[in-house]
Amino acid sequence: MIEIRNVSKSYNKGQIKAVDDLSLQVQPGEIFGFLGPNGAGKTTTIKMIVGLLEPDRGSIVVNGYDIRKDPIKVRKSIGFVPDNPSVYERLTGIEYLNFLGDMYDVPRAVRTKRAKELLELFELTGDVGNLIQSYSHGMRQKLVLIGALLHAPDVFVLDEPMVGLDPRSAHNLKEIMSRHCQEGKTVFFSTHILDVAERLCDRIGIIRRGKLIACGTMDQLRHMANNKETLENVFLELTEQ
Ligand SMILES: Nc1ncnc2c1ncn2[C@@H]1O[C@H](COP(=O)(O)OP(=O)(O)OP(=O)(O)O)[C@@H](O)[C@H]1O
Ligand SMILES: [Mg+2]
Repeated sequence: MIEIRNVSKSYNKGQIKAVDDLSLQVQPGEIFGFLGPNGAGKTTTIKMIVGLLEPDRGSIVVNGYDIRKDPIKVRKSIGFVPDNPSVYERLTGIEYLNFLGDMYDVPRAVRTKRAKELLELFELTGDVGNLIQSYSHGMRQKLVLIGALLHAPDVFVLDEPMVGLDPRSAHNLKEIMSRHCQEGKTVFFSTHILDVAERLCDRIGIIRRGKLIACGTMDQLRHMANNKETLENVFLELTEQ
């Protein structure tokens, strides 16, 4: 569960209002897609959910824990895939995964089993012994994904996760996200790939200039956008100047 209440965040001493009085909720078992034009405030919102940025105002509760009162419990509840994964170049893939496993107190046997399954799924098994600096963009993205899932988080937060993934990996990721929510967990992700959002999400929120301008099921969004059929047309209609 994610509950965002009246959250605002500015940069440069208030000159840039990145997120402006944002409120939304994502229930357990739900996949929520967060859309919006470039610079709308998606990454800023996500960084506040996962504890990388502090809101100027408002509150965020993740899995029942307030990000200010219980930051460690919030972090342990979340698996986070950032938009531009900068991982430790001088570690090998397996060293990186073990480092995360230690941080999140994942017992050895559990982590080995999970890592093995995920590495096979993402066709990375043969590369885990190599230094991360030798990885391609997509390989890094997949390693970060695996690392984010190692502690079986209740809440999975991803910032543009499909970027750079090959079609099979993108397909696998979509399966993982669906399975995650079937298990009663929560998925929150940002994307510009509208047909992925349309097919995958239970609900979609559209942010523009820091404000949530639409939020609901595909049907509810269509209704708001003069019954436009596809999410692309809904998006274009709702985000017009
Ligand atoms: N570190 C920063 N310092 C100053 N301004 C920032 C910073 N990060 C983001 N901004 C500004 O905040 C606003 C929201 O940016 P944000 O990265 O949240 O957008 P986004 O919706 O994730 O965009 P994109 O789709 O391009 O990833 C933009 O105006 C951006 O220029
Ligand atoms: Mg962004």
